[in-house]
Amino acid sequence: MTEPVIAQKEPYAIDVKAGKSYWWCACGQSAKQPFCDGRHKGSGLEPLEYKASKDMTVWFCGCKQTGASPLCDGAHNKL
Ligand code: FES
Repeated sequence: MTEPVIAQKEPYAIDVKAGKSYWWCACGQSAKQPFCDGRHKGSGLEPLEYKASKDMTVWFCGCKQTGASPLCDGAHNKL
């Protein structure tokens, strides 16, 4: 499996809406970070769905090294 590309070394703060699905880019190649734009094709990596349970701000992982996908777990601090 291909290793993901680091999109940025900090999370993306996104205001999500209750009941809406968001597709987090796991490969790091999307031009629409932190979300998938289809560029992962052929990488062996796939986007991950995040379904919002309520309206809130979510911190999506930008470095793609998180152990809590698709959310930031602070892994970028070790890069
Ligand atoms: Fe990165 Fe789809 S573009 S997972």
